[in-house]
Amino acid sequence: MSAKIISGKDIARTIRDELNEQVAELASEGLVPGLATVLAGDDPASRLYVGMKNRAAAEAGIHSRQVTLSASTTEVELLGVIAELNADPAIHGILVQLPLPRRIDESRVLLAIDPDKDVDGFHPINVGRLATGDLDVLAPCTPRGVIEMLLRSGVDPSGKHVVVVGRSNIVGKPMALLLLRRAHGGNATVSVAHSRTADLGALTRTADVLIVAVGWPNTITRDMVKPGVTVIDVGTNRVDDPTCERGYRVVGDVDFEGVSEVAGAITPVPGGVGPMTIAMLLANTVEAAIRLRAAGR
Ligand code: GUN
Repeated sequence: MSAKIISGKDIARTIRDELNEQVAELASEGLVPGLATVLAGDDPASRLYVGMKNRAAAEAGIHSRQVTLSASTTEVELLGVIAELNADPAIHGILVQLPLPRRIDESRVLLAIDPDKDVDGFHPINVGRLATGDLDVLAPCTPRGVIEMLLRSGVDPSGKHVVVVGRSNIVGKPMALLLLRRAHGGNATVSVAHSRTADLGALTRTADVLIVAVGWPNTITRDMVKPGVTVIDVGTNRVDDPTCERGYRVVGDVDFEGVSEVAGAITPVPGGVGPMTIAMLLANTVEAAIRLRAAGR
């Protein structure tokens, strides 16, 4: 069997076209959504991601502002930038790119972001709202993108056994919480596996939908999936490949070649979840702008 390819790139394009229209309508009412990204340090991957996020925002008609701080920036300086952005009425969404330089306390930084401008959904207030089933919460972009991808490709998680592999705060945990919600896109039976799961294959073979976010290539091989399963690969890993001009190629966490012969549907890497994360960041920024306006801020 050859799996259907779920193109995040195509779905993200559709969502971004929808957002373009919504942003144009808001602009005609005098509301221009604003996104601020904060990059601290010189990690090349983070720089690339932040650049992509700002370009996507500009393309959607969202006002975008990038604050770049050196690798030697202090926590006090970073907290000062966040305080300014919290108070800036032209900014509705604030994203601090992770990981931060090791000296900086990530949880203190995330706590400093105004929860109503927290378009990453990483503030403990928003994590708590998500966990308690608040449907109006700003939810983390990557897991929100995965739900959109499933729904828009005709896979409703309701009643299905969804196995999430990975327990990070950015993907695995919020993914499980979104899938558990009593809402469209939720109502799944959810298992979360991680590095200490005793027999990963035994669990993943029971999945109707398998979502993998561990950051390690070939974590899931064809013997670990049930025929017909829907596989969402969140991983982005660089592997050495001298035949590529850049000397490396980007692969996911799933052995795409092998698993796509067994699965019913699968996301590619690149062109899968990555573009959805950016589309959802734009969607969250627009949502935040609308809610802040409604709150008179
Ligand atoms: N680093 C990796 N993924 C993300 C993300 O979704 N948001 C932020 N802020 N940093 C990240």
